[in-house]
Parts: sequence; structure tokens; C-alpha cells
Amino acid sequence: MKPVLIAPSILSADFSELAGGLQQISAAGADWVHLDVMDGHFVPNLTFGPPVIEALRKRSSLPFDVHLMIEQPERWLEQYRSAGADRISFHLEACPHAHRYLCRVRELGAGSGIVLNPQTSICGLEYLLPVCDMVLLMTVNPGFGGQSCIEAVIEKIRALRHLIDRLHLPTLIQVDGGIDRTNAQTIINAGADVLVMGSAFFRDSDKSDLVRQLKHLT
Ligand code: DX5
Ligand code: ZN
Repeated sequence: MKPVLIAPSILSADFSELAGGLQQISAAGADWVHLDVMDGHFVPNLTFGPPVIEALRKRSSLPFDVHLMIEQPERWLEQYRSAGADRISFHLEACPHAHRYLCRVRELGAGSGIVLNPQTSICGLEYLLPVCDMVLLMTVNPGFGGQSCIEAVIEKIRALRHLIDRLHLPTLIQVDGGIDRTNAQTIINAGADVLVMGSAFFRDSDKSDLVRQLKHLT
């Protein structure tokens, strides 16, 4: 079994020193940088947009995994790709024509991702999976770091793992929200390939040990 990929979220870094946050992520041996884009409409919080991502792009060689928590994400795909996103994920709840825009993300040369809020079912997802490089299952209601993992979503991770394996697809399962040293094993056992980690990563005094430990879990 492949080791899980770790994608620390820059949302929990010190915003007055984001380049330092990037440095901490790469020094710890993490795989991707997760960038949470919030518009104050789809979620009740605002973060940053393409100019900040473009500036950060110059300061890291790790893949940039951009999680769009915005309305009408289809209007912004080109801008985020040009800013340096290697992967672009948007919410199914924000985009009625998700299939078209997942294809568009791939045409732009980025990895395509669809995101499901905790209450959104995977029912019907089999029709999107062939154009999804990744499905991101939220284990918190999106908008803020530092919330607790909603345990009920664990069963959804299992069901999605089963569906992807049954269809023999390479689609990755990413899980985001409230993940820490105590629950990572359960989430990996349920079938996650990529763990997003915000507050638990940035508050850990030994980030390299954290990443190493998580990568040993199978
Ligand atoms: C929440 C974001 C998450 C957030 C996770 O809406 O999508 O990526 O940074 O932070 P933690 O790990 O603190 O829940
Ligand atoms: Zn996120």
C-alpha cells in the first residue's frame, strides 16, 4: 500500500509570514501545499485569491493544491491555473455543471478535484469519477480551520473507496477537516489517500515527526 500523502493547509499558518509557512511545510517533508480560497459568499470567511497564490508560487516547488470554496468557481479556473495551481478542486454544491468544468481543469493542465460537503451524498458520483483526479470529502463544514472532525463522514469515505475500487479508477480520495494524530489512522483505514491538515500541523512542535508518523500508518 502506498503511504498517505500529506497536504498541510496554509490557512493555519501565520498570515503575516506566509512564505515562512511554506518553508515549514517543505522542511517537514510534506507532499503538497493545500491552499484554501474562500469568497465570503459560499462560505462565511474570506482568505486570498490568485495574486497571493502567484506570489507564493515563487517561494515553493511543492505542488499547489487549491481548494476553491467560492461561488461560480467556473469563472475563475484560468486565473487559478495561471497563478500556479497544480490541482484545482471546487465544490459540487457550487457548480451545477461540474462535469464540464472538471474537464476544463484538465484541459488547463491541472489535476481536477470535486469537493463534497459533509451532508452531500456520493450518490451519482460514479458519473463524475472518470473526469476526477481527486474527490475531496469534507469532514468539517467548510470555512474555518480548527474545527472537529465529523465522525459520520468516515462511513462516506469507506463507501467512496469501495466505489472507486469497484470501477478500477485511479481517483484519489482526499479528506479535509479536523484531522490530527489521534484520528488519522481511522481515516486512512477508511480509504483516504491524501490528508489535509491545518491546525494540527502548524501547532505541532515536531512537524517532521508528524509527517513521518502519518506516512508510516497503513
Ligand atoms: C476548512 C478548510 C481546511 C482547513 C483545515 O474549510 O478547507 O482545509 O484548513 O483545517 P483543520 O485541519 O484545522 O481542520
Ligand atoms: Zn481545504
